[in-house]
Amino acid sequence: MMIKPTAVRKGFIGPILAKVAEGGFRIKAMKLTRLSLEDAKKFYAVHAGRPFYGELTEFMASGPIVAAILEKENAVQAWRDFIGATNPAEAAEGTIRALYGTDMGQNAVHGSDSDENAAIESAFFFSQIERY
Ligand code: RTP
Ligand code: MG
Repeated sequence: MMIKPTAVRKGFIGPILAKVAEGGFRIKAMKLTRLSLEDAKKFYAVHAGRPFYGELTEFMASGPIVAAILEKENAVQAWRDFIGATNPAEAAEGTIRALYGTDMGQNAVHGSDSDENAAIESAFFFSQIERY
């Protein structure tokens, strides 16, 4: 998962990590870092060619983010359910995106969309000795 730039800027790292714990997710790896535009393009390569790709990658490179690997039974789906719909306006009450998201682009957090991509994305940020 990532805490996206706007949420970091607004001081929501703490509240979001409190929700992570509340949801029963175990933090296996975590760092504060910043993506270059090139990194953001690589991370979201699956969306290359989509109309929102430029805006998305520029936004993700616009400031520091928190990246983490979360562990839980069926973690990928559990985390997506927990954060709510992509558009915070449509996210269920109490979900992270409803609580801390601003709009479709600045939706507070990222969640992997499959176990396969979760493994790829985890390797993007963390080496084996950074995982506990
Ligand atoms: P994410 O990858 O960031 O966790 O979000 P997601 O799976 O819920 O949504 P995804 O389809 O993967 O889209 C990635 C991000 O691109 C922006 N987006 N904008 N304007 C649009 O139609 C549109 N669609 C997607 C969102 O910021 C979304 O988080
Ligand atoms: Mg996605």
